[in-house]
Amino acid sequence: MSVKTAVDGVLAGARADLERLVRIPSIWADPAHSEDTHASARTVAELARGAGAATVRIVEVAGGAPAVVAQWPAPEGQPTILLYAHHDVQPTGGDEHWTTPPFEPTERDGRLYGRGAADDKAGVLTHIAALRAYAGRPPIGVTLFIEGEEESGSPTLPALLRAHHDLLAADVVVIADAANPAVDVPALTTSLRGLVDCVVEVAMLEHPVHSGMAGGAAGDALTALCRLLASLHDEHGDVAVPGLVRGERTAAGVGDDGAEAEFRANNGLLDGVELIGCGSIPERIWCHPAAAILGIDAPRVADAPNVLVPRARALVSLRIAPGDDPAAAQHALTEHLQAHVPWGAQLTVVPRTGGGPFSLEAIGDPYDAARRAFAEAYGNDVREIGMGGSIPFVAEFARTFPGAAVLVTGVGDPASHWHGIDESLHLGMFARGVLAEALLLAELARG
Ligand code: BES
Ligand code: MN
Ligand code: MN
Repeated sequence: MSVKTAVDGVLAGARADLERLVRIPSIWADPAHSEDTHASARTVAELARGAGAATVRIVEVAGGAPAVVAQWPAPEGQPTILLYAHHDVQPTGGDEHWTTPPFEPTERDGRLYGRGAADDKAGVLTHIAALRAYAGRPPIGVTLFIEGEEESGSPTLPALLRAHHDLLAADVVVIADAANPAVDVPALTTSLRGLVDCVVEVAMLEHPVHSGMAGGAAGDALTALCRLLASLHDEHGDVAVPGLVRGERTAAGVGDDGAEAEFRANNGLLDGVELIGCGSIPERIWCHPAAAILGIDAPRVADAPNVLVPRARALVSLRIAPGDDPAAAQHALTEHLQAHVPWGAQLTVVPRTGGGPFSLEAIGDPYDAARRAFAEAYGNDVREIGMGGSIPFVAEFARTFPGAAVLVTGVGDPASHWHGIDESLHLGMFARGVLAEALLLAELARG
């Protein structure tokens, strides 16, 4: 039987199991969904057993999310590949905004909608389906590693890699958690940004005071916070924090020069709204740092008494460029905030999550094997692209196993709305992604 025929035979079941996984709200970042994340890990473990794994374990370290490690031992003389994805998902952003409920997977126009349908339960099922296509006996050794706290910045991943070092060692790693330029154009992601974020709190007053009695002489913390946050960008919209790495574009791809209209449409920019920053779009989103305010804790407009706000806080997210270092960037951000806090307001900066950036040169046999497999599955050549998002596992794994080839792939497309409302998976892309991975296993077995 050809690999293509075998893959066609497992797709319906894989899609059904993807739906099963999407129904579990595994929002690890929300303590109310801790049990769901455990249920989701158990389901992944069950899928791995069903796909013929010789051993399946659910592993965790203190305070961390459950991860699944399953193994298919290498046939004599064959290499071992590590297949990575994550089973935790982002919060929904408000179920009421979704066209259909986020945890009820629904098909519309060839796409499967649901939280995690793309990010990254599709990655989980890509691996499972590729293994099923080999009836549980892949031609090379396979270790499946599905983590449960990626969306929280993988805080216990380094400890997990230390605790299970020998179990996770591999010659090649496939990270199925990224996106492609189009539904029929496969990508190898060769650079990712890192992330540091922190909670910034500004305090001005011991307690709220009448804004007319004291205002004009006493300032309020929310205005101080706004002024502080405004210092993060220069007048062009580039990040103004000194000491951060700002790279130049190395690879062309999605969102390239001239593709501004496409970028605007994919991301829903409103008419007349300008892009921020300088340089080509890929340069801005792959190679430059980016700062954003993700949330502010302050009185709600409807409930606000007319008082000066004594304290306010914000969640600041800083994407860092390939070549930068999370600890150095966190330090630079903190120094910048301390230097810019207005009016002598009391400032506290509490780091939250961090993950390293990554970049590689896709040179060597495993990359060529991937180029052949992906081109055959998609009918188009592989494009090397960068990515503005972050996957902490990538840098952490590369640091732990420096000899391994790192293939960052996935079945996302520009319309997947990762983390957004109405997240979805293109089902044709899913089929091609499974075939690509199954073909890759065969290519690697050929040596
Ligand atoms: N899968 C994403 C990264 C991604 C986004 C790849 C868009 C391709 C296209 C991943 O799950 C993610 O969201 N990572 C977090 C990591 C952070 C919490 C350290 C991110 O980038 O915000
Ligand atoms: Mn992801
Ligand atoms: Mn994500």
